[in-house]
Amino acid sequence: MTGHSVPRLGVNVDHVATIRNARGGRLPDPVRAAKLAIAAGADGITAHLREDRRHIRDEDMARLKAEIDKPLNFEMAATREMVAIALRTAPHASCIVPERREERTTEGGLDAAGQRAQLAPMIDELRGAGIRVSLFIAADPAQIETAAALRAPVIELHTGAWCDALADGHADRAAVEWSRIVAGAALGAKLGLEVHAGHGLAFDTAERIAALPAIAELNIGHFLIGEAVFDGLPSAIGLMKDAIARGRKAARSA
Ligand code: PXP
Repeated sequence: MTGHSVPRLGVNVDHVATIRNARGGRLPDPVRAAKLAIAAGADGITAHLREDRRHIRDEDMARLKAEIDKPLNFEMAATREMVAIALRTAPHASCIVPERREERTTEGGLDAAGQRAQLAPMIDELRGAGIRVSLFIAADPAQIETAAALRAPVIELHTGAWCDALADGHADRAAVEWSRIVAGAALGAKLGLEVHAGHGLAFDTAERIAALPAIAELNIGHFLIGEAVFDGLPSAIGLMKDAIARGRKAARSA
């Protein structure tokens, strides 16, 4: 699946739920967004059920599994509660991410090397249930080697530090982060791991990282949901103007 084939795009719908939760109602529906993403070419859907349920909720994850017809990637912390929900949901994949309640997003990679003893039984349990386990780690050789030793079939390289350095105009730091990603992707592939990448990717960074032959999948959320506002706003406003005009016309002819 790597080399010359185009990397798959997993669309993360978490932030559709963030907007919904800001109002407390049912709209916008992340499952509707997932279906639209698939119709537009997404190869899979990613969603992160955080411990504090700040965006995706248990019911969203269950509906995603029931209603979408592409692979579901269930992002989760390495906790007993999340393993139990993943086993019940039976997604195509589970991506284990680090989680701290006070962080705004997943700020660093999982310390697989430091948490080996805790992760090993969870990875075995998920794998035993036929779920493809992925570890969300920094492009650090020790973490990548640990993922292989733990027999996780997939790693997802955290691209946040690289994207942040580029966005902040720190070219030197960006160059260092980029060379880590290039080396990490190659090491992962050499160790027989499927290599994914994600966090903070936009059009330009996705284009660059897609050139790496080891990269099989990119998971992208926040940027796409943000772009959708700009791309979708003219059409939504047009439809609203039509609705308002229809209402007035109906009143006139009543
Ligand atoms: N991959 C993983 C493992 C993540 O935790 C996230 C953020 O939830 C993403 C990809 C997507 O990141 P972003 O929303 O910045 O595109």
